[in-house]
Amino acid sequence: PDPRIEAIKARIQDFPDFPKPGILFRDIFPLFQHPSLCHDVVNVFYEHFVSKYPSTKVDAVLGLDARGFLFAPLLAEKFRANFVAVRKKGKLPGKVVSCDYTLEYGSAEVEIQNHAVSDGQNVIIVDDLLATGGTMNAACLLAKKLKLNIIQCQCVIALTGLNGEKKLPAGIDFYSIVQYEF
Ligand code: PRP
Repeated sequence: PDPRIEAIKARIQDFPDFPKPGILFRDIFPLFQHPSLCHDVVNVFYEHFVSKYPSTKVDAVLGLDARGFLFAPLLAEKFRANFVAVRKKGKLPGKVVSCDYTLEYGSAEVEIQNHAVSDGQNVIIVDDLLATGGTMNAACLLAKKLKLNIIQCQCVIALTGLNGEKKLPAGIDFYSIVQYEF
């Protein structure tokens, strides 16, 4: 067992019935009151990747709006790679590529700026949490549309009882640091 992972898990705070009744909200912001834990998160992501793909060059780390932005730039810096924002519709100027996705209730769209990526780049996609997998799946579809080579998707937390990993495109490698059933 990695003591850093135990420490990360210990600081994730549970909020029952937020944002609505019946939802147990897993809050990662307390990690930022212990700055060394943020670095531990990024180091755990980095070391996991490098041990699995020792000779793969990472060109870009894609961070998902909004809490993926907390970790993706730090991880990108470790790889000496670009950070690229995957944003909710209408937030990015210039030419963008979009991808629709369905949520539990309704649908949403995510976007990347065309000029931020190029064909064939090796990328990692990062977010704070995988729940139903809808958001990460949309980011994967967007990356595929842009002909990016997704090496791995990484989240701090996975809610395994929601089977989000199964929603991701076939063959996608997914890694989470901390798991909860719900
Ligand atoms: C949360 C979370 C993930 C997504 C996971 O973001 O940060 O991005 O939901 O859920 P899913 O696996 O069911 O798609 P949210 O949509 O609340 O947006 P925010 O980060 O802007 O608050």
